[in-house]
Amino acid sequence: MFASPSNLTKTGLDALAIDPNNMGSLGLAISEAVEEAASRADTNYALGSVLNHVALHQTIIGLEAKKQLEMAGDWPDVIFAPCGGGSSFAGLAFPFIADNASGGRNGKPVRLVAVEPASCPSLTKGDFAYDFGDASGFTPLMKMYTLGHDFMPPGIHAGGLRYHGASPLVSQLYHEGLIEAMAVPQLATFDAGVMFARAEGIIPAPESNHAIRAVIDEALRCKETGEAKTLLFNLTGHGYFDMASYDRYFAGELEDFSYPEAAIKESLRHLPKVG
Ligand SMILES: Cc1ncc(COP(=O)(O)O)c(C=O)c1O
Repeated sequence: MFASPSNLTKTGLDALAIDPNNMGSLGLAISEAVEEAASRADTNYALGSVLNHVALHQTIIGLEAKKQLEMAGDWPDVIFAPCGGGSSFAGLAFPFIADNASGGRNGKPVRLVAVEPASCPSLTKGDFAYDFGDASGFTPLMKMYTLGHDFMPPGIHAGGLRYHGASPLVSQLYHEGLIEAMAVPQLATFDAGVMFARAEGIIPAPESNHAIRAVIDEALRCKETGEAKTLLFNLTGHGYFDMASYDRYFAGELEDFSYPEAAIKESLRHLPKVG
């Protein structure tokens, strides 16, 4: 196993030549993996979260959630899921879209909210444009909300959300106003994750903490207004491999990165020109 950027691929070496302290990104790691696979006859690379078939494959999550809710005799008012490439969000949310299209089961549509990091806000601050799924431009072009394929997000601890774009299906639904998106800062997500761990005995992944933050905030709003709402969220992973990040959070070493407006503007200038 090698950390990206590595000195084993041209992509990695080029990135390190420009910035020896390059923190890497999902887009860059994908480029390295594709380069490695393309150079070997015995290796293929299957693109992940961003592609539509992956999003659809993940819908088993939402289909099962619907069955469980039916068993519980309940139905969500709002669904939250962390959003990196988008398949976790899509997996939970997409099965509810058909219900929403026919007015919603309880006479009102379920709100479907993708939660992303404030420092890597592809849906909430990106352009809806054709772009590559990886940093070097090896993948096919996809129409998606993007911060630019060579955008290097700040080194937040939810590594799975450090991706410049969002899946074309998620992007199209967002463009058409059928789903919502929000961005949350890093420290608030760790606050939420710790609160959740203390209450539930499950240490969530830093990615999942984004959805938990949004759920807690919605629940607090409901407390204020006196509304009763059923909130469903995607606990996408446990945090047992992220203890070093929690350690840094408790040591007061984590920071909130400001919205990297200048870096995003610059990388959006490198979007491929599509005629
Ligand atoms: C625990 C966890 N949650 C959420 C995500 C985001 O996933 P997606 O790319 O499906 O949006 C990731 C991505 O790696 C992850 O590791």
